[in-house]
Amino acid sequence: MKYDFDEIIDRSGTNSAKWDKNTLKEMFGAEDVLPFWVADMDFKAAQPIIDAVVKRAEHGIYGYSSRTDSYYESIINWTKRRHGWEIEKEWINFTPGVVPAINYAIQAFCIPGDKIIIQNPVYYPFHDAIKNNGCHIIDSTLKFNGEYYEMDFEDFENKAKDPKVTLFILCSPHNPVSRVWTKEELEKIGDICCRNNVLVIADEIHNDLVFSGYKHTMFASIKEEFALNSITCTAPSKTFNLAGMQASNIIIPNPLLRERFQRILEKNAIGGQNPFSIVALEAAYNEGEDWLNQLLAYLEGNIEFIHEYLKKHLPKAKLIDPQGTYLGWLDFRGYEKDGKKLESLVYGKGRVALDGGTWFGNGGDGFIRLNFACPKILLKEGLERIAKAINEEYN
Ligand SMILES: Cc1ncc(COP(=O)(O)O)c(C=O)c1O
Repeated sequence: MKYDFDEIIDRSGTNSAKWDKNTLKEMFGAEDVLPFWVADMDFKAAQPIIDAVVKRAEHGIYGYSSRTDSYYESIINWTKRRHGWEIEKEWINFTPGVVPAINYAIQAFCIPGDKIIIQNPVYYPFHDAIKNNGCHIIDSTLKFNGEYYEMDFEDFENKAKDPKVTLFILCSPHNPVSRVWTKEELEKIGDICCRNNVLVIADEIHNDLVFSGYKHTMFASIKEEFALNSITCTAPSKTFNLAGMQASNIIIPNPLLRERFQRILEKNAIGGQNPFSIVALEAAYNEGEDWLNQLLAYLEGNIEFIHEYLKKHLPKAKLIDPQGTYLGWLDFRGYEKDGKKLESLVYGKGRVALDGGTWFGNGGDGFIRLNFACPKILLKEGLERIAKAINEEYN
């Protein structure tokens, strides 16, 4: 089946967090800003997912639901087929989201006062999870080489040596700098963590969204030592635009770690799952591949479009070429280095809602994150608004 990613779908009146007018007013100062912020897509899900959810809805009884073998098999098969990692049913834990899982993991493996390494600029709920659980953020800021971002291994190891550092939250692929880490990079960082007794939470929620020429390596699949020193978070939510379904897979091969994680789930009575997310996840992993392949091609077209648009209309700005994710990291430092000033200009004058670079911690000033998983015509309108605001201010 051929999918039409150019179709504009009105999301108003659907409780969309991204498009809700009150939220937009609160966050960006106006209701009429065009949203490119929250990481979900303005595309319809794959037809087999819609069919499965409709069928389930038509049944009419929405009682307590359980996961069957076919649920786990769909996750196991997908992980093997797309990523070459063979996992076992017992390793897979359900949580209603990856962000909740990160919080539960901190509660399971850390005590208040512990230090946790992240690599800024990074997805800001990592910061909140660490702080809200009484731990301290240790930032090993990524290095920008003018073209793409790299890990600072020396700095990382110096920080990992501190016995108070117990955990590292790896973002792979990385949001917002859209790097797909190579196997070599992951091996190097994983070895540092093993040497220094630092447990790894591998947030691989974007692992299926990888563009031509790049290959995602699942951290735990690299070697047994890493599998036993990590917990891996995946989900169909980013891949198949099912974020509102709230289902994620927390894969823990090490039985001791698994038991500690499960204790926290029990303490919080986490386990039940809504019937729609069960059928949606299975349909996505079993029948969504064709849609995903078409989506990736469409997203590559959008990347090309942004590069071309900036070259013509905002020559001092640059999209850091995305290797994965649908989140573009745009460098506006050629126009404005003050992050707050840049952000208020694009929100206020530009009437565009974007994640400000400053939200992501160190290294974010002068950048904005643009979610380009939308029909090209919306993307064009957003870029035009940004260009007008910037060019009027700086030319
Ligand atoms: C790196 C990363 N982790 C987790 C999430 C959200 O996970 P969930 O909605 O499953 O809590 C996102 C969403 O943008 C993300 O980018």
